[in-house]
Parts: sequence; C-alpha cells; structure tokens
Amino acid sequence: MSIVYYQGERIHFRPIEPNDEPKLRQWINDPRIWSTLSHRPPTNVCREREWIDNLGKDDKHYNFGIVVSEDDRLIGSCGLHLGKPHARRAGFGIMIGDVDAQNQGYGSEAVQLAVRFGFEEINLNRIELSVLGGNDRAMRCYEKAGFVREGCRRQQTYRHGKFIDVYVYGILRDEWEVAQRDRAQLEPASC
Ligand SMILES: CC(C)(COP(=O)(O)OP(=O)(O)OC[C@H]1O[C@@H](n2cnc3c(N)ncnc32)[C@H](O)[C@@H]1OP(=O)(O)O)[C@@H](O)C(=O)NCCC(=O)NCCS
Repeated sequence: MSIVYYQGERIHFRPIEPNDEPKLRQWINDPRIWSTLSHRPPTNVCREREWIDNLGKDDKHYNFGIVVSEDDRLIGSCGLHLGKPHARRAGFGIMIGDVDAQNQGYGSEAVQLAVRFGFEEINLNRIELSVLGGNDRAMRCYEKAGFVREGCRRQQTYRHGKFIDVYVYGILRDEWEVAQRDRAQLEPASC
C-alpha cells in the first residue's frame, strides 16, 4: 500500500525510499536538472544511497518524495532544511526530476504544499531559498506561492561559461496567513 505523508490536491508527499534511488540518481545527473541547482559533482550509486540512508537521522531535514496521487507516480522531491531552532527558519529546495511531468502545475503545488507544511505543521516563521538567474519558471512558482524576492547576489555562481546572479527569496508566516485569509474570503461560501 502506498504511503501518503501529506496530501495536497493532485499530489502528495511521501518518504523517499531506498528503491527510489535509481530514479533520483538519474534525475540529479540530468543536465536539465543539475544545471538549475547549486553545484554538485556527478552522483554515483554509493553517494545517492548514502544520501537516502541518512534521511530522517536527524529532525533538521524534511525531505519528501513528490507523488502524483492519481497514479501514485514519483515525479520529484523537495525538502525543508531547518536552521537554528530559535529562528524557526528553513531553507527550501525542489526538483520535478521527471521532465515529462514539468509544466503541469505539479511544481507549483508542491511549493505551496511544502510552505503549508512548514507553517502549519512544524511552526516555521520563515522559509527561504535561492534561485539561479534565468530560472524564470522556478521564480514564477515561488512568487505564486507568496515568496518575495529579497535580494540579488551578483555574479554569485558560474554557469554556461559566465558568472550569473543568484536571487534570494523568502516568505514569512504573517504574509502567508494574510494570503490564506484573503483567498478564503474570495472563495464562494459553501451551503
Ligand atoms: C522549477 C520547477 C519546480 C517548476 O515546476 P513545474 O511543475 O515544472 O512548473 P509549474 O507547471 O508548476 O509552473 C510553472 C509556472 O512557470 C511558468 N513558466 C514556465 N516556463 C516559464 C519561463 N520560461 N519563464 C517564465 N515562466 C515560465 C508557467 O507558465 C507556470 O506559471 P502559471 O501557472 O502562472 O502559468 C520544475 O520545473 C523543476 O524542478 N525544474 C528543474 C529543477 C529546478 O529548477 N528546481 C528549482 C531550483 S531553484
């Protein structure tokens, strides 16, 4: 039976399992994926297994498999990475690794679901992330979820033969709660 850790509308989150390793390794070594993320060397089977083995060993990392609920298909992963406890802050990262599943709204839903989880379930106050200049699709997803562009680290990294900017985004719990209330008021009342 499949596990549903946190249910969204069309997708849900579940734990990442050892038998997900081949898919994850294929995705993370795909230039269409790794070139959008922070630098990492090629990932072999040992490294990927080690990463999976270490999941859940501390309570600082909430890593989720992103699954299309309709057909129980794993299409990517995302994670909230907690900072110092007093700050109630986490970094966020995501990949819809199955490129055939991109551009269908799943990434946007996963970002919004992770933000909901962060504020409603683990009592975060702030979620933050960084995105490489040129990744307009990711920025659109984050902005739709309520993330605000807070700054630009100029020429922070190097891709495709040139230095590129990296943008910093954040969302605060207060902002998110206001957006939820506004959305609820716009929805037609059910009888
Ligand atoms: C970025 C990512 C999470 C987005 O998820 P997705 O499921 O592909 O995207 P969605 O279908 O949910 O939404 C894409 C949105 O961006 C828009 N978009 C798509 N391509 C775009 C582009 N080139 N420029 C601007 N907007 C674009 C879409 O129109 C859509 O917005 P809309 O709902 O207002 O129409 C996913 O593509 C991915 O994992 N990519 C590779 C890894 C990556 O970039 N991770 C993020 C690193 S910061």
